[in-house]
Amino acid sequence: MKIAAIAGSLRKESINKKVLHHMIEQADSKVEYTWIDLADIPLFNADEETGGDPKQPAEMKEQLKEADGVLIVSPEYSHGMPGVVKNALDWAGSMTNENVLDKKPAFVLGASPMALGTALGQQQIKQTLAACGSLVLQQPEVFIGTAPKKINDDEVITDERLRETLKKAEIAFIEWIEQQQT
Ligand code: FNR
Repeated sequence: MKIAAIAGSLRKESINKKVLHHMIEQADSKVEYTWIDLADIPLFNADEETGGDPKQPAEMKEQLKEADGVLIVSPEYSHGMPGVVKNALDWAGSMTNENVLDKKPAFVLGASPMALGTALGQQQIKQTLAACGSLVLQQPEVFIGTAPKKINDDEVITDERLRETLKKAEIAFIEWIEQQQT
């Protein structure tokens, strides 16, 4: 099973990247994660879709197309989703070229130093994914609040409950993908 993994932060020391790295390192043996880097995705411009997608969005869409599901671990900015995430979803869920999010199982989680743990940002990402036709897993919800207290400088998740939560979340997502494939 292939899962496309997207971190919604470009920051080198991103706590969301650390959570995603942890999930990839602890992956179930049946899962192969493909990391999609949003750093080089140009700003969405529908004019640029004419005659096919530009190189970087085309490569990202190919990775998404080949994946059985997409996992997004993202921060929340100003109670919304980061622009880089919306930008990537606008390319991927194109109304002109192929919409690679249609019927694609998706799972969203996020980490924040604040208490609410990206609840509002996740809501926006899920709404956009649903608008693109993605099959968004609704439960479990994973809101990782006060995240820096749970992850050390070596990217190790020190909070046992969080480790368990992430493992259970991965299992739920794998089951969700398998359900959609039958
Ligand atoms: C934030 N942050 C933030 N956190 C939150 O829980 N709710 C919010 O609405 C916001 N808003 C916000 C706006 C902007 C522009 C920035 C830069 C930051 C704080 C944010 O959660 C924190 O910086 C995280 O560490 C960002 O995630 P990464 O980059 O560590 O993955």
